Amino acid sequence: DWTADAFVEQTIASLKTKLGNDRVVMALSGGVDSTVAATLVHQAIGKNLFCIFVDNGLLRKEEFEQVLDSYRHMGLNIKGVDAKDLFYSALDGLSDPEAKRKAIGKAFIDVFDQESHLIEDVKWLGQGTIYPDVIESVSVKGPSATIKSHHNVGGLPDFMKLKVVEPLNTLFKDEVRLVGKTLNIDPTILGRHPFPGPGLAIRILGEITPEKVAILQEVDAIFIGGLRKWNLYNEVWQAGVMLLPVKSVGVMGDERTYESVVALRAVTSVDGMTADWAHLPYDFLAEVSNDIINKVKGVNRVVYDISSKPPATIEWE
Ligand code: XMP
Repeated sequence: DWTADAFVEQTIASLKTKLGNDRVVMALSGGVDSTVAATLVHQAIGKNLFCIFVDNGLLRKEEFEQVLDSYRHMGLNIKGVDAKDLFYSALDGLSDPEAKRKAIGKAFIDVFDQESHLIEDVKWLGQGTIYPDVIESVSVKGPSATIKSHHNVGGLPDFMKLKVVEPLNTLFKDEVRLVGKTLNIDPTILGRHPFPGPGLAIRILGEITPEKVAILQEVDAIFIGGLRKWNLYNEVWQAGVMLLPVKSVGVMGDERTYESVVALRAVTSVDGMTADWAHLPYDFLAEVSNDIINKVKGVNRVVYDISSKPPATIEWE
């Protein structure tokens, strides 16, 4: 029978044999898969694993600093790369969802290629690919997906010529979590909701500006913080907020306002392929809505998305 303990022991041993004294580069996302994969490789080869975590300017509020901090605490050899401006200029003027995804994918490749060139004599590309990614490449998400789906964009970036090591490619998500637990990875990392690679860019409908990102980060932090405070975070599979390209009239004191609308989204699901909108308590929604409208300048209306997948999707773009 499969056990996480045995998997960890065998995987570390076989990684040691396979990698020897070679250097490995990995992009981390702060998500469960890449974190668990990096921890395994780190336990096998220590400082020969070079991790890169990119700030694309599309992460949640304070996420870059927090995730970088926890990676450092774990002893990973991690480099944080501030590439916000590069991503914002790549996104400038784009409003089509697929065009945004492509621009983000390309910017990521450019940053990662540049960073991996700075590591002398690197031989391997580590990836957090899990079994479902292998069998259904269409649903592949995350940095590994971004890399794969850009195979055919011009010539291959140099890091694509590296040998690939994917220690989790036989595991399902729940097994990855068990392995993470065995490796003593912080439960808040292991329990994190999925977050799309393109980040807040696909939750800001239409064009991206740093100002819109800042507004959405505030709103999202209130929503997610509220879910944690009300002990609802672990009851939902994924949650987030969409900043709509719509303004509506409101009233504040004696003043008429004309500001943005945000849509809260929370779903229950097993694998994200189908999902039901989460039946969150009205009292919770009321508190969060008040908090958002009172605290975030630029937002005067909050709605809750009650669509299931299918036919709706989880994200709005
Ligand atoms: P949808 O919106 O298709 O989302 O119901 C299903 C799951 O996939 C995530 N998602 C993405 N993840 N790159 C990613 O890495 C993407 O372009 C992307 N689009 C959607 C979404 O957050 C949900 O978990």
